[in-house]
Amino acid sequence: MNLREFLKNLEQTGDLVRIGEPVSHEYEVANILNTLCEKPTIFEKVKGFEFPAFGGITSDRDIIARALGTTKEGLLMKLVQALRSPKEPELVSKAPCQDVVLQGNDVDLNTIPMLFHLKGDGGRYGTATVAIIKDPETGRNACYHRIMQIGKNTCTARLIPKRQTRTTYDKTEGDLEMAICVGNSVPVMVAASLGPPPGTDELSIANALDKTNLVKCRTKNLEVPSESEFVLEGRITRDLDREGPFVDLTETRDFERQEPIFVIDCITHRKDAMWQVLIPGRMEHKILMGMPKEPTIYDEVSKVATCKNVLVTLGGGSWLHGIVQIQKKGPDDARNAIEAAFKGHGSMKHVVIVDEDVDMYDPYAVEWAIATRVQGHRDLIVHPDQPGSSLDPSGDHSGKKTRTTKVGIDATIPPGVDPEKYQKVSYGDVDLNDYLG
Ligand SMILES: Cc1cc2nc3c(=O)[nH]c(=O)nc-3n(C[C@H](O)[C@H](O)[C@H](O)COP(=O)(O)O)c2cc1C
Repeated sequence: MNLREFLKNLEQTGDLVRIGEPVSHEYEVANILNTLCEKPTIFEKVKGFEFPAFGGITSDRDIIARALGTTKEGLLMKLVQALRSPKEPELVSKAPCQDVVLQGNDVDLNTIPMLFHLKGDGGRYGTATVAIIKDPETGRNACYHRIMQIGKNTCTARLIPKRQTRTTYDKTEGDLEMAICVGNSVPVMVAASLGPPPGTDELSIANALDKTNLVKCRTKNLEVPSESEFVLEGRITRDLDREGPFVDLTETRDFERQEPIFVIDCITHRKDAMWQVLIPGRMEHKILMGMPKEPTIYDEVSKVATCKNVLVTLGGGSWLHGIVQIQKKGPDDARNAIEAAFKGHGSMKHVVIVDEDVDMYDPYAVEWAIATRVQGHRDLIVHPDQPGSSLDPSGDHSGKKTRTTKVGIDATIPPGVDPEKYQKVSYGDVDLNDYLG
């Protein structure tokens, strides 16, 4: 389903909120979305702007699954399959995202309802910003880069080291062309959050998830999803300026840095375009960061054990904690799964391995497995002084790369015991109408 169809579909089932009252882009849109627990929402009137805003379409696994024609439980395999079999998108010559083309003096970010999210932010930010670049060796890449407005047609872009955009930028002499697409379908949003091996095109993964046509940019040698609401065509220059402070995944404040300046040469948009917003540190950000790591963990664990499911949990900031469910066949399966899981997601700090009878979506059930199946001296794997996540405030950030202690917990039934002893008992269900008159 494309974005417009999906919004209609959500509205038909009462799952879309429409805010008709005029709202301010300064904190109010972000606060309303937060209060609505990021339910899919359209802000029809943003004070001072002609464009409406919307957000929340990937704030929940059930909603993402619905957009991709699967269930919450089926999402992992849907992503695994799309990652294994990307499909080259069709290139079209006419596209809704180019209904309106603005160049020269008409390029003006002040006409776009980029948000102030929280007091203390460095500026107005674009966050649902899918950035497309081309690397001369590895080809097209899509990745999120938040952008902070610094001028009428300029922003600073946060380019984290080792992301493909940063890698390509670092080896480029002069400017690197980049197109930022805003107002994307769920397949594009999910695909852009994946970090497949270099050379694998995220837009082909989006097309494998659901049909995603591309169109050539008007001023850059790049292709973008033809149904995006907005496309900001520009260049990442060699000049730096301040970016931040801004809130990151752990809901703590990321500090101000010097980042490259992105100069926008052309803005194209649909004639009735809506600006997409995504509030940092909350559910939508968390799910889009954590969920894409599940297929890579799955692939690594599947090399050493029968992996049934993987969950990167919200409690761990959707980045630092994972649960892996296995069908245990040999005594070392869980330990091997721990090591493989850390390989599958290098920033993960703690991982719990559970059996098939544990509902991994229920934190109480996982805690119950730890309580009834774990002996610390036997079932913990502790690796001190490992490379860790820069997002973890408790890590050692004194060197160039964060160091951390990684812990794996084998919460599976130990080998050589009577498994009956480890099963949860279950009471019967009765029809209460028989007892309550
Ligand atoms: C909502 C969201 C915002 C993100 N913001 C940034 C960002 O500002 N800068 C960045 O480098 N990565 C950011 N990321 C992470 C990258 O999109 C992600 O790691 C990407 O998959 C890297 O893949 P690549 O190396 O193939 O480009 C963000 C991810 C999400 C889901």
